[in-house]
Amino acid sequence: MYRSHTCGELRIENAGNKVKLAGWIQRSRVLSGQIFADLRDRYGITQLSFIEENDAAIFAQAKKLGREFVVQIEGKVLERQSKNTNIPTGEIEVEVETLRILNSSKTPPFTIENDTDGGEELRMTYRYLDLRRSPLQNALKLRHKVAMEVRNYLANLDFLEIETPYLIKSTPEGARDFVVPSRMHPGHFYALPQSPQTFKQLLMVSGYDKYFQIVRCFRDEDLRADRQPEFTQIDCEMAFVEQEDILQTFEGLTKHLLNTVVDAKIEDTFPRMSYEEAMNRYGIDKPDIRFGMTLWEITSLVKNKGFVVFDQAEYIGGICVENGANMSRKEIDKLIDYVKRPQIGVKGLVWMKCDNELKSSVDKFFTEEQRKEWKDAANAKDGDLLLIIADTQHRARKALGELRLHLGNELGLRNPNEFAPLWVLDFPLLEKDDESNRWFAMHHPFTAPKPEDIHLLESDPGAVRANAYDLVLNGNEIGGGSIRIFDRELQATMFDLLGFTREEAEAQFGFLMQAFEYGAPPHGGIALGFDRLVAILGGQENIRNFIAFPKNNAGRDLMIDAPSILHNDQLDELSLNIKD
Ligand code: AMO
Ligand code: AMP
Repeated sequence: MYRSHTCGELRIENAGNKVKLAGWIQRSRVLSGQIFADLRDRYGITQLSFIEENDAAIFAQAKKLGREFVVQIEGKVLERQSKNTNIPTGEIEVEVETLRILNSSKTPPFTIENDTDGGEELRMTYRYLDLRRSPLQNALKLRHKVAMEVRNYLANLDFLEIETPYLIKSTPEGARDFVVPSRMHPGHFYALPQSPQTFKQLLMVSGYDKYFQIVRCFRDEDLRADRQPEFTQIDCEMAFVEQEDILQTFEGLTKHLLNTVVDAKIEDTFPRMSYEEAMNRYGIDKPDIRFGMTLWEITSLVKNKGFVVFDQAEYIGGICVENGANMSRKEIDKLIDYVKRPQIGVKGLVWMKCDNELKSSVDKFFTEEQRKEWKDAANAKDGDLLLIIADTQHRARKALGELRLHLGNELGLRNPNEFAPLWVLDFPLLEKDDESNRWFAMHHPFTAPKPEDIHLLESDPGAVRANAYDLVLNGNEIGGGSIRIFDRELQATMFDLLGFTREEAEAQFGFLMQAFEYGAPPHGGIALGFDRLVAILGGQENIRNFIAFPKNNAGRDLMIDAPSILHNDQLDELSLNIKD
């Protein structure tokens, strides 16, 4: 037996016990006649002490202990002279009687403590060492806990976890596919699933009316803090349901997670907001409703009054920063620079301070009377600051939405320990890509239009709303889903609208349309982004810290050095060798 206890287990009640521990030496301090060493495993840290007077041989051995050496000790638990109230084992130490060095270690390239001195790249290269640190261990424990809670909760509701294949044909979720060449079929490729979408729909046709899977998905898209090329979904589908059934089931799951995992005490039903309202009031389809500062529009109030910036704009609107009138010119200039960055890309910002004289950056174009009207339209009070952007409706609302989030961060309005979930409903079915002048499915091509909007499919496709919904938490899209088309003809019309010829649709999705001819039940579902959900529950937005072995921003695994080139032999075998 290597150990009788873990390094996080011993308490003052154990004083006097003989124990065996094993773990890693986090650090040791050599004093005259005594050595203290911190022994670490994933459960915690226990202080070891070696006393020269008691055993000179062990003391000499202990002197050689370097950082991250792996040891096993036997010894006696003693009450500590100077207690450490910061750790649960801080009242005791173990006086070592036998020491076995199980393995030595090179000096690690960064310190393996809560606050490390290692840069991102170094830590990614030595991810296995970074994973010894307790912030990362806690993140992975949280991830495990959430997965267990999800499985229990859904299994109790009679959901079956069913695996679907990874080597498949392309599924259109809007990103690029990762592909895998087939050795046996030269020139042919599998695609890795962007999601199990078509398979879960086929499972509904097969009668597995409540399916879920915690499943890896693969998307070749540009990476961000909340996006990885391989990520995990809690993927779900149900048959004989309407939108309301799905919303209630997964609101139940989310509430259960919020209440059990982070003790958020959320009792009320989640707010629901239409896509249109979200865009109007927050400038984004995933609003962070932990704080106000919502958008308002003053186009008709300010247009055609002689200020060319406003006169030329389709939309003029703004946000009101509570008590912001005391911001300095320098601070306001920073906000102007913020919205002018290419990522946001508007040309400027008009401001007005709601103080005595309603001072603004455009006093020469608008009378004080007129400016008073803005204050009313914004519902502002004395001491507030108005920030106004004019542009196309799309660009201005987007910019205001981003400015709102930026100010929310700056002003500390986005408390990571507060949880504000909501549903966003009634997404448009289609969106037009201006460049190619083609319609694309906003969610995916299997999403059902709202029955009352179906008659618009031919005449005004852009106005058709979908039975689609997103689950939003603290300004992050943590899930999305829809009620599906289950009628062959409607599905064919949809592919038609999306610019597929009958032959293309048949070649790509014939299997699904055929299945619809053999008794497909009405069905719908949702997928939650598991990594995102866990990260937010952990109070962070970067999902990388919640994935054991993530890719870096450039999509590389620095530890194993992937992607990498293949040998010629391998390329030959896969018929991929491109010879001149
Ligand atoms: P969707 O594409 O909206 O829907 O994905 C569902 C959820 O998965 C998460 N997500 C990601 N997380 C990390 N990295 C990524 N690259 C990434 N991409 C998406 C998001 C998102 O809300 N088949 C449909 C679901 C359905 O209709 O049932 C689908 O995949 O949190
Ligand atoms: P300009 O015409 O660029 O000299 O801008 C005149 C004023 O209008 C400056 O204070 C700009 O910051 C502001 N401004 C310019 N473009 C916009 C815009 N799209 N929305 C709001 N204010 C703007």
